[in-house]
Amino acid sequence: MASNLQSPKSPKSPSKGASPAAEPAQQAPLLSNEEQTAVGILPASHWHQPDTEEDPNNDSASSLGSFISSTASLTESIFEYRNIHGRTYHKEMGNVESWQPNDERHKQALDIAHHAWTVILDGKLYNSPLDKKKIQKVVDIGTGTGMWAIDFADEFPNAEVIGTDITPIQPSWVPANVKFELDDCNSEWTWADNTFDFVHTRMMFGVVQDWEGLFRQAYRVCKPGGWTESINSNSSFTSDDGSVKYESAMAQWGRVWNAAGKKMGRPFEVYDLDLQRKGMEAAGFVDIQVKEYFLPVNTWPGDKHLAEVGLWWKVAIESDLDGYLNYTFNAVMGWRPEETALYAAQLRKEFNSSKIHGYTKARSVWGRKPE
Ligand SMILES: C[S@@+](CC[C@H](N)C(=O)[O-])C[C@H]1O[C@@H](n2cnc3c(N)ncnc32)[C@H](O)[C@@H]1O
Repeated sequence: MASNLQSPKSPKSPSKGASPAAEPAQQAPLLSNEEQTAVGILPASHWHQPDTEEDPNNDSASSLGSFISSTASLTESIFEYRNIHGRTYHKEMGNVESWQPNDERHKQALDIAHHAWTVILDGKLYNSPLDKKKIQKVVDIGTGTGMWAIDFADEFPNAEVIGTDITPIQPSWVPANVKFELDDCNSEWTWADNTFDFVHTRMMFGVVQDWEGLFRQAYRVCKPGGWTESINSNSSFTSDDGSVKYESAMAQWGRVWNAAGKKMGRPFEVYDLDLQRKGMEAAGFVDIQVKEYFLPVNTWPGDKHLAEVGLWWKVAIESDLDGYLNYTFNAVMGWRPEETALYAAQLRKEFNSSKIHGYTKARSVWGRKPE
């Protein structure tokens, strides 16, 4: 990989230099109490006294416990990774800093999230007006477990599909027209100009350092007439009826993620700041289109499709809530793991309450490189 396109603004990584198998020492919070209060974040100690009474409104359509394995799969390769409070992460590589674990439990969560996205998009994998006869080469940047790339390759058997990620969590048995490459999307892409008919990215908040830079690279490697598409959810929860209260765990979620993204130099506010559309415009893409999605949490909407979306969105988050919170809340924001666990318990309770009508949104943006 060639040199980085922009200088990183990552925080001093709490686990840098730590023995891979060792638990890191407790870190001082990277945001002072005053800084946290200024952005509406309650102190971590707030979650010490959660209301532990059984919630009579807990009517979740699924028991999520069944999705959650209490032990991470420990293979020998775990020792090549960083270990933070019992979860494994990709080891340091250049500027790479990933907030997502790369263990079996998190891989399962990513697969569930992929299913949620297919429900959200009504069975579709993309919105761009792709001409099936013309698509020859496609790349999925930050492919995760590669499910999107595999499904896309099945739908386009004559196309060559590449999925890139910084960590090797993709399966080895894949369709013949799929391959995976280890690549840092924040570094200069090594593909030649005009290589791809379609450049796809999904859920890259907290990963991409410079969204304009990302789309400039996408523009360069896109063939004239080719498309790029980016799908990302909002990083916060709200409600229209006031049921997501200011001090609730659901309302706190976005504030903490957004503050952590600032500390990491990798924004989570991709949706709020409209970074996908702005980045594509700045890069020179034309015919830019935007589609908004409503993502309820749980099955509270009367509409059948939205209730199904809500079920899968909740399951996708809950299936590895600990894994989602571990790096950002504990390592970046400096919460103690027991505080994060109490916060997570309160969040689960709110997710499963029929009195709380929370939702987030997502945005798909696609654009064409002029001929
Ligand atoms: C939220 S996951 C999304 C995965 C996949 N796009 C999906 O929607 O299922 C973000 C992915 O970005 C990867 N990632 C993190 N930093 C990266 C980087 N610098 N370059 C490429 N991928 C990165 C992570 O390993 C993770 O698989």
